[in-house]
Amino acid sequence: MKEIKQLTPRQIVQELDKYIIGQEEAKRNVAIALRNRIRRMMVKTDLQKDIVPNNILMIGATGVGKTEIARRLASVANAPFTKVEASKFTEVGYVGRDVESMVRDLVEQSINLVKEAKNEEVKERAAENVEDILLDILIPPVKTPTYSATSSTAQQGEFDPDKASEQELNERTRERFREKLKNGELEERKVEINVKQSSNVGVGMIGNGMIDDASMAGLQDMLSGMMPKKTKKRKLTIAEARKILMEEETSKLIDFDEVKEEAIHLAENNGIIFVDEVDKIASKSGQGSGGPDVSREGVQRDLLPIVEGSAVNTKYGLVHTDHVLFIAAGAFHVSKPSDLIPELQGRFPIRVELDNLTQKDFARILREPKNALTKQYQALFKAEEVSLEYSDEAIEEIARLAFKINEEVENIGARRLHTVMSHLLNDFLFDVPDTIEANSKILITKEMVEDRLSSLVKNRDLSQYIL
Ligand SMILES: Nc1ncnc2c1ncn2[C@@H]1O[C@H](COP(=O)(O)OP(=O)(O)OP(=O)(O)O)[C@@H](O)[C@H]1O
Ligand SMILES: [Mg+2]
Repeated sequence: MKEIKQLTPRQIVQELDKYIIGQEEAKRNVAIALRNRIRRMMVKTDLQKDIVPNNILMIGATGVGKTEIARRLASVANAPFTKVEASKFTEVGYVGRDVESMVRDLVEQSINLVKEAKNEEVKERAAENVEDILLDILIPPVKTPTYSATSSTAQQGEFDPDKASEQELNERTRERFREKLKNGELEERKVEINVKQSSNVGVGMIGNGMIDDASMAGLQDMLSGMMPKKTKKRKLTIAEARKILMEEETSKLIDFDEVKEEAIHLAENNGIIFVDEVDKIASKSGQGSGGPDVSREGVQRDLLPIVEGSAVNTKYGLVHTDHVLFIAAGAFHVSKPSDLIPELQGRFPIRVELDNLTQKDFARILREPKNALTKQYQALFKAEEVSLEYSDEAIEEIARLAFKINEEVENIGARRLHTVMSHLLNDFLFDVPDTIEANSKILITKEMVEDRLSSLVKNRDLSQYIL
């Protein structure tokens, strides 16, 4: 099983720096929280179970990197991660329902991670098995003649040159084909294999709400387990057959009980749950007991036991949430963190405020992150063998315009860069490869940016719709 990477706080911040510009305070705190879990695992005394995670409350306007930080943190740590919107639970028909589903999602992610790691472990062995199976289909081995002691015929010990050479020939042919298989020379050849068909049994007749999701999924699994597995003969190319056989052989080599156990352990000790839009469930105190406020507080009360630590039933077993790291986030324009119920406030001891992004930040976000938008578009054009370059002034101008539109129309943070970039490059995206052919070069200049965007920026009504 791939170990959780033991990065130091500084290393964690360095990793996050590759994707997120600025927001040093937030990066530092998530790095500490992550490292603290590694530290906790090393505590050998009874104190270990008393050390609770440093749950974090991130406060910041939309599009400044809250979700991005949490998501990257999870991938840096190779930790199971899930994201929920707190406001979802206040929606009509959702009130008070199934806050626990976030834990189930987390375990599901965890299962995927563990499975992936295990797949990696048995990959080679599975590939060997698949090769054997394919070879047997292509050139079936001839039975070794058996000379058993009980068959007291005159044949005993007799050498049959025909049979021997036949077998030898078969062996040699098999070896030749094995080479061909290895070298990928037979990928297009058709073979017939038995494909297992998963029998999907619907449990649709049980009304919604009668049992919870966990039991429902369990029932579904149980029913499909009870149905006999049907197999079907299919003619496929070796390439296709290999994919299917690979899956079957891999799952034969993996012990699913072990996967479950490890996945639950991983989710409990390394899981990260990101609760977005918590500001939407904070109700301003002293507003009386209006309708929506009741449900908001209700959701907070539902969340509380999960954040405080409880056991949640999932289809893979009980999951204790005591050491799951919770990162909550919200803009808190209207409500304040102090509008949350005290118990919940206490469970998010670390508050970090994210900075609003400046025009300078925008320019850096366009240039620096590993997955920067400018690089993404370059890759898209490169797929058509067209090179796309931007002049420095052009990037500055895009940043300036995006910042300006945010100020004048609505501040949507770095998301504005997406709308601006797509509008800027729209015509090129349409013209490649019809009129802009492969091997052309496009250079985005400042004039071009002005040309395509400034008329829109000046016209407030237009930019409201288009950018
Ligand atoms: N500081 C930053 N550095 C690099 N990219 C950023 C930064 N902030 C935001 N982005 C980019 O902007 C987009 C939106 O960011 P994100 O989803 O993190 O916003 P958010 O803060 O969670 O907003 P919301 O409150 O609306 O959920 C993402 O594509 C992200 O890559
Ligand atoms: Mg977000």
